[in-house]
Amino acid sequence: MVVEFQVKYEILNPPLKWAGGKRWLVPILHNIWKQYSDCRLVEPFVGGMAVALGLRPQKALLNDFNSHLMNFYFWLQKGLCVDIDFENDSCYYYSCRERFNQLILNGEADTKEAANLFYFMNRTGYNGLCRFNSKNQFNVPFGKYKTINYPKDFLGYAPIFKRWHFASVDFVDLHLQPTDFIYADPPYDVQFTRYSANDFKWEDQIRLAEWLACHRGPVVASNQATERIMELYQSLGFSITFLEAPRRISCNGDRKPAREILATKGLNRSIT
Ligand SMILES: C[S@@+](CC[C@H](N)C(=O)[O-])C[C@H]1O[C@@H](n2cnc3c(N)ncnc32)[C@H](O)[C@@H]1O
Repeated sequence: MVVEFQVKYEILNPPLKWAGGKRWLVPILHNIWKQYSDCRLVEPFVGGMAVALGLRPQKALLNDFNSHLMNFYFWLQKGLCVDIDFENDSCYYYSCRERFNQLILNGEADTKEAANLFYFMNRTGYNGLCRFNSKNQFNVPFGKYKTINYPKDFLGYAPIFKRWHFASVDFVDLHLQPTDFIYADPPYDVQFTRYSANDFKWEDQIRLAEWLACHRGPVVASNQATERIMELYQSLGFSITFLEAPRRISCNGDRKPAREILATKGLNRSIT
């Protein structure tokens, strides 16, 4: 694929740290998307929003099962200027975490205060992780960063976000239109590890691939290039392209680029 990507508008960076961010993939996706930019972009797994902010569709349906993440985007859509004074201090962090968990217990997780605290914990907590215990309480420890920059004015996102729709459901519950362009970036398949930190099981990978195969419009999905993922998508009629992700540090310190795939279907407009 020819990588040709020019940014014609003010750059808006993903406002949060998010595992599996796909900023590096935007130029490649842009090369496909430019043929389909009249379509609505649907991202069932929007995560840190690197792709939507990179492609800047006119129409989009952006979804993630993580309701706290989507609540933050919802407040950005309304026009958010964070109005809490933040401190990169462990006691302060844990008091914010306690307050956030109290808001969840009170049924107030959709408030602006919850969005502010979510943002603060994303920047200040360990590795930008978003993890909850079995009682649905946020349990990421303090991140111990030397310095943290806390941009607080997100007003620049509001005009773009106002054109887009947000949802927080399991992907199968999204209401699709036949002409939607779907870009799906689910949690990766991890085939040969005994321990998997994510709740997205193999059954979910199958459920997703079958759901994508049923869509009548264009579909692009990224995933780890495991044997079974390749077999799954090929068996459903997808074309596979291999990609080298920039860098991934495994538990044994290996820095080899990860092998990933793009599985595509229904791309019948010519790609240059
Ligand atoms: C690999 S991340 C997406 C990263 C994103 N493309 C980016 O550039 O930041 C996968 C996302 O899927 C979400 N997710 C997991 N299970 C889901 C489900 N069943 N339905 C919708 N979203 C789900 C997670 O909350 C996570 O944000």
